[in-house]
Parts: sequence; C-alpha cells; structure tokens
Amino acid sequence: MTVAAAPSRIAPETIADALLEARARTLLLVAPLSDEDLYAQHDPLMSPILWDLGHIARFEELWLTRNLDGRIEFVEMPGMYNPFEHPRSTRAALPLPGLAECRAIMDEIRGRVLARLVSTDFDPADPLLRDGFVYRMVLQHEYQHNETMLQTLQLKRGAPYTPLLRVPADGSAPRRPPRPGEMVLFPGGPVEIGTGDRSAAYDNERPAHRVELKPFWIDAHPVTNGDILVFIGAGGYETPELWSEEGWRWRTESAARAPKYWRYADGGWTTRTMDRIGPVDPWHPVCHVCYHEAEAYARFAGKRLPTELEWEAAASWDPATGAKRRFPWGDAPADRSLANVDQLAFGTAPIGSHPKNVSPIGCHGMIGDVWEWTASDFGPWPGFESFPYKEYSEVFFGTEYRVLRGGSWATRPGAIRGTFRNWDYPIRRQIFSGFRCARDA
Ligand code: AVJ
Ligand code: FE
Repeated sequence: MTVAAAPSRIAPETIADALLEARARTLLLVAPLSDEDLYAQHDPLMSPILWDLGHIARFEELWLTRNLDGRIEFVEMPGMYNPFEHPRSTRAALPLPGLAECRAIMDEIRGRVLARLVSTDFDPADPLLRDGFVYRMVLQHEYQHNETMLQTLQLKRGAPYTPLLRVPADGSAPRRPPRPGEMVLFPGGPVEIGTGDRSAAYDNERPAHRVELKPFWIDAHPVTNGDILVFIGAGGYETPELWSEEGWRWRTESAARAPKYWRYADGGWTTRTMDRIGPVDPWHPVCHVCYHEAEAYARFAGKRLPTELEWEAAASWDPATGAKRRFPWGDAPADRSLANVDQLAFGTAPIGSHPKNVSPIGCHGMIGDVWEWTASDFGPWPGFESFPYKEYSEVFFGTEYRVLRGGSWATRPGAIRGTFRNWDYPIRRQIFSGFRCARDA
C-alpha cells in the first residue's frame, strides 16, 4: 500500500460477523421445514425454498469470489439459479440439490469467501470495493431473499409454518391513542430525495437530488384493519366507482372481498399469520393488500396515495431545519426497539406502539410493519447510473411496477432505510404490503 492511499476503514472481521449472522438467520427460518416443504412449489408466484437457498449461495459466489477474482457479468451466474433463465413458476421442475447437498455448497462457497476476505483490498478507487460495498450488497441480497422466503412460508401448502423462534414485537403502549385517519401537514418546498451513499445504497436510490414539492397532508399512521373493516362494511369492494378501471378488473377477476388471508366466519373476520389464526385486530396496520385495494380505499376516504417523493419527504425531511435524516427518527440504524422490523415478531404490531418511530413532521410507523404502496411507477432518479449490474434495478424501470417504501416486519434492518425503494406489480398481495393516504393541502 502506498503512503497516500487511505487506510481501509472496513475491518474484515466486521464483514465476517455480518455474513455469519445473515446465514444464521436464513438457517433459523428454514430449520422447521421438512424435505417436502423445502422442495415444494407452495405457490406459482414463489420459488421452492431450496431454490432461494442455492440462489443466495450462488449470488454470493458470483460477487465475492468469481467477480473479485476477475470481473464477470451477472448473466454468467450458473444456470439453475439464474433468476432470468428460470422464472419462479418453473423452478420446482429444476433438479435442485436437497438440503444436505445445498448446505454443503453454501458452506463451501462461504469458506472461500471468508478465506479471501482477509486479503481483500478495499481500494477506495474501486466503487465495488470502496467501503465494502459489494459485501453489503451480498448481505442485502440474503436479507431480501429471507423476506421472500417468509412470503412463501405464509403461502405454504399443508400444515402452516411454525417458527422455531418467535419474539413478540418490542413495542409499548402508544403515548396517546392514535386517531384513525389523522393527518399531518408537509409544508412543501425544496426537498432532497435519494442519496449519494455508495457504501450500502442501491443504484436506484442515487443520486441525491432536489425536488420542489407542493404542500400536502399525509396520514400520521398506516391505514389500519379497522379502517378496512369500515370500507368493507360500506360495500367498498362492491363499488366500482371507487376503483380504477384496471383495479376493478382485478377486483372482478380475483373476486377479492377483503385483504388476502382474511376469512369471514361466524359473523366476524379472522386472519392468519403463519400458524396463528385470530380475529382481525382493528389497531394493526392492514397487511396483504394490493395497490388497487389501497387506491380504492384512498378514494373512499376522500384521499389519494402519496407519491414516493411525498413519502420520502414525509419520512425523512425536516422542514424546520432543511435537513434530511436516514430514518424517520434520525441516523441510527433500524432495530427492533425503534420499529417493528427483523422478522421474529412474525406479524404486525398495533399502530403507535413504537413511539420513536416518528418522522420530523409527525408520521408514525413509516419504517417496519408493512411496506407502503405509493402512487409512483418505478423509474430512475435524474442522473441514474446502473451499478453494479442492470438486472437489479434498471431492467424493472417502467410503468409496470409500483414503488413500495419503508419495509415490513419481515424486513431485516440492513435492508431498509429512508431512501430504499421496493417495487412490485400493482396486483400483488402476497408481499407484506399496506399503505397510508395523502391529500393535497
Ligand atoms: C427488490 C424485492 C423487488 O425480490 O425481486 C432479490 C430483490 N433482487 N434478488 C426481488 C432481489 C435480486 C427484488 N426486490
Ligand atoms: Fe436474488
């Protein structure tokens, strides 16, 4: 190393700890599953769990061994686990190795990754290695697949999934009872959107740029099950005027009359989260609704969905100081004391039960519990540059996908922040998705 080169600020043991911790969680989630459960295609929308496991390992091998040894392209990812060659609905037909063999592959790859970590030069001139970016990208990939696996496990065929370890959400009673539908004002003006961060942020979060927003109102809390019960009671699912044309087509074809996993029995609504069935709790954020349901409810309430610019401003901008925070509460990373994240609660928590999870303008619960649908299509920020591969973000830009923000109870803390952008088709509701509403001021 030359004298001029900045010393690496990344300790290899810190990265090793994070990689080991990520793997421990992945294995904890799959520990209760039988061979049959691991191989099964539980739903055409999802992969067999064994595919996720092998894919996590091959992605890690691709980026942390093969690519660091000599730059290659994402498309060179070996056959079976290449997501583009094999759409989810076809993955059960692949000759996937069983759990023992798959774990041996995972361990073998991990061994090579750790062995080369000590000699890795976190060259500040190399954007892939600077500040350990590529390691954090691989970590976030495993975290995101954990959430995908939880979607699969909630859809599981046969006996419901019983978690090995369930830890109730680390919340407390709200300081004052939230009022349903309560809104807070964003005064408008110039706002910084996105980030310049190159240590953890994805390409689609960059660059940081200024936008000018008009004043708007936004819900202080996510829309609750109680709100949706009112919508159902008022015939919202049977009123075409509340739905867009595309939304009503979905409503008709799906025959949906309530959020996914809700069931009407003996005069009341129940819902299921993994192996637990209970009455729908009116104080929880609604989960498992698609974009069309969110849009119809917003119209019913005389509101609309926020754009993702509005969402990010409401979550992270302090109009009083003109400063941006990484999270609603400040710059401290997410954890279970701040927000309902990190999976082990295996479900949502009542609104307002994480009193620190509040943004400068007074929006509660923007991180964790449920991903929040926004009105926005998934597109590039002005000045976007694909990095390090176009198959993460760029190939999904367009009008087909809607953006979701904020993470859910099933999101690992390392894969959520105020600028993080998720996306899915507007008809999807196996994801842990809810929403809040906005209105012009
Ligand atoms: C960002 C959640 C839409 O699951 O398709 C996983 C994350 N990308 N492997 C997805 C992802 C590559 C992605 N989402
Ligand atoms: Fe992936």
